[in-house]
Amino acid sequence: EWWEKERSQKTPESKAIEEAAKLLQSSDIPVAFPTETVYGLGADATRSSSVQGIYRAKQRPSDNPLIVHVDSLDMLQRVLNPNSQGSPDSTKTPHNALPSIYKPLIDRFWPGALTIILPNPSGSVLAPEVTSGLTTFGARMPSSPLARLLIHATDRPLAAPSANASTKPSPTTAQHVYHDLKGRIELILDGGASGVGVESTVVDGLCNPPAILRPGGIGIEEIRQCEGWENVAVGYKDGTLDVKEVPRAPGMKYRHYSPKARVVLFESTSNPAGVAKHVQADLKDTAIGAHKIGIIRTRNWKLGLELASEDDIANTMNPISSPIEKLISFPIPVLGSGNSSSRTKMAYDCHLGSDAVSIAHGLFAALRGLDELDVDVIYVEGVSDREGDLAAAVMNRLRKAAGAEMRV
Ligand code: TXA
Ligand code: MG
Repeated sequence: EWWEKERSQKTPESKAIEEAAKLLQSSDIPVAFPTETVYGLGADATRSSSVQGIYRAKQRPSDNPLIVHVDSLDMLQRVLNPNSQGSPDSTKTPHNALPSIYKPLIDRFWPGALTIILPNPSGSVLAPEVTSGLTTFGARMPSSPLARLLIHATDRPLAAPSANASTKPSPTTAQHVYHDLKGRIELILDGGASGVGVESTVVDGLCNPPAILRPGGIGIEEIRQCEGWENVAVGYKDGTLDVKEVPRAPGMKYRHYSPKARVVLFESTSNPAGVAKHVQADLKDTAIGAHKIGIIRTRNWKLGLELASEDDIANTMNPISSPIEKLISFPIPVLGSGNSSSRTKMAYDCHLGSDAVSIAHGLFAALRGLDELDVDVIYVEGVSDREGDLAAAVMNRLRKAAGAEMRV
């Protein structure tokens, strides 16, 4: 009702949503839109040519399936039961109910940052490109009102991956999307910075025990509290966790979240003295060391480096352009050995805050912001993923950004 009123009053917001919905219905060029996790690149999930447009714009490998976004449980039921719509004989076709294991999760976390894996029914309305040949599909009901209104106005389930160029950190602002996809798409709905900052948690309840295929915005401990999910298995692999299986969410095997700069991740177990030594060696090595350095701090790191005075820091304040207030960055002149000014190194400090919520919120913006500053290397202070909540998701993204050989 609220939407119908908005629509009839033709507010700037409703006009933008309508325009985006029309494009989604009629064009094969995907539309970027905000969600509470990260920005998505949407297409009508029922039309092949439209879904192909996503893979084209992102240059994404086509064996990596997409998440289907719905605005309501009604819309999800229509995807699960393609043949029974409005048919008087609907009693003849067996009803594909939502598997009961998902009920407690849906009650607690939807709408929100959780993707569930469901059987793709025979005669599915979903374009085959959505599932890239799997017999299942991932579904999510986002909590972002703008995202849900867009799905509602389009009146189709929307297939949407994160709206970054393939391999880059996911976008959490419209500016990030523009940076990666300008010239490739026609419309970005700008809803400000995404609140959560990391993608949804992907869970598979079709296997026994159920499994987490990707850590994300909903914490593992919270999922464990739900009936039927007490023994949920960790079905992804990111280095420290001892998981025997190969990744089951196809997307997890690709290079991901990578800025141009080399990322050196210090696990929370790293010895602080060792960290300082490592960084200082790089700063002092004028021959091969990095010229511009990015530092992403979370909890404990103090900049016990060879830095300029606090006054100099204040004078050279140059915040990364980002709507994320938590992200503080300023260049710090760092003197290398020797006097030549060409040997002066610059460090940019981003402090994301110390709780997992603010770290997740600013993480991708920090990686992207430092890339814009053309740093050669980014040192990141990791947190312990045993803390649950968003910490596991943050460390999963960072380990992928760093790659196995870049972890200390
Ligand atoms: O928060 C999010 O999930 C964001 C926003 C836009 O909703 N979307 C997102 O999509 O992160 P994408 O495409 O970047 O990641 C989808 C993940 C991939 O790891 C993919 O392999 C997995 O979900 N996935 C999708 N369908 C699957 C299926 N049927 N079985 C297993 N994994 C699946
Ligand atoms: Mg992605």
